Amino acid sequence: MSLLSVENLQVHFRTPDGVNRAVDGVSFEIGSGETLAIVGESGCGKSVTSMSILRLLPEPQAQFAGAIRFEGRDLLALPDREMRKIRGNAISVVFQEPMTSLNPVLTVGRQIGETLRLHQGLDARQAEARAVEMLSLVGIPEPERRVHAYPHQMSGGMRQRVMIAIALACSPRLLIADEPTTALDVTIQAQILDLMRDLKHRVGAAIMLITHDLGVVAEVADRVMVMYAGRKVEEAAVADLFRTPRHPYTRGLMGAVPRLGVRAQGRAPGRLAEIPGMVPSLKTRIDGCVFAGRCPDAKDFCRLHAPALESKSPGHLAACHFAPKDARPA
Ligand SMILES: Nc1ncnc2c1ncn2[C@@H]1O[C@H](COP(=O)(O)OP(=O)(O)OP(=O)(O)O)[C@@H](O)[C@H]1O
Ligand SMILES: [Mg+2]
Repeated sequence: MSLLSVENLQVHFRTPDGVNRAVDGVSFEIGSGETLAIVGESGCGKSVTSMSILRLLPEPQAQFAGAIRFEGRDLLALPDREMRKIRGNAISVVFQEPMTSLNPVLTVGRQIGETLRLHQGLDARQAEARAVEMLSLVGIPEPERRVHAYPHQMSGGMRQRVMIAIALACSPRLLIADEPTTALDVTIQAQILDLMRDLKHRVGAAIMLITHDLGVVAEVADRVMVMYAGRKVEEAAVADLFRTPRHPYTRGLMGAVPRLGVRAQGRAPGRLAEIPGMVPSLKTRIDGCVFAGRCPDAKDFCRLHAPALESKSPGHLAACHFAPKDARPA
């Protein structure tokens, strides 16, 4: 059984001018200790997917369908009380901007300790001792002194380390990291990545990593899911995806458009490339392929018929009528 199994998740927002199908029938799994990266352009539903797992979206504006099974229990069906026991404990999260997630008037030690007191019943002294251990684990020098510091007394990179310390304090089985390095400068980004890679081995948590940075994907992920306009359009093991991206959208993200297949191979991964054209509105129903309007390979057939997500080679799924398929059985 997978640690997390998302089955046909739909998240629709009711807005004054129609229903926004932010996530429209997405399924994926994450195994224990596995790192799944989710990539795709702005607005494709990455954060909404992760916030649904944590049940942090405003209801009733957000309407859910499908199932999100974590260790076998459907999180969408859990009472709030049960969900609070899971959040910050078995599943925790690191967001992009640590300054808005940290409380400015509490010391970082208190903030790390808070989750330990809440979920693990530690007293103040035990919680502080553990906070010092966590600061040291995430590579903060002089943790005994830093535990008494306030967020504004730390640099951006340090604050992101504190966020990771808070997220890991209760030894989560799943860590959701939504653009954890985007707000940081390049050298600090590299340090935080090293930290995440190192922690992945030491802590053993599964990681769901949302990022615009294909370099990060290449270095940290085991598997990658590519989203477009609220759908999953491709999924594969990381090496497989970089070697043979099957979906024209993925090739576009890798900077291979318009000369398909030429630059995708051997190109040093960087940030997602810009693809000409606009993402279709999530408020109108599209009968054909959601990417047809921007796809360099689209045929009339694509505009009329939505492609199913199908196996193109073992462990490699793509939703494209014309994506090449391996000759050997998938
Ligand atoms: N609370 C909300 N109410 C209404 N619509 C929302 C809400 N949150 C997100 N959306 C919409 O859901 C869609 C998906 O947004 P989401 O935040 O998941 O994108 P994303 O892939 O995380 O993008 P980015 O890379 O910019 O973070 C967008 O159209 C967004 O406007
Ligand atoms: Mg987002």
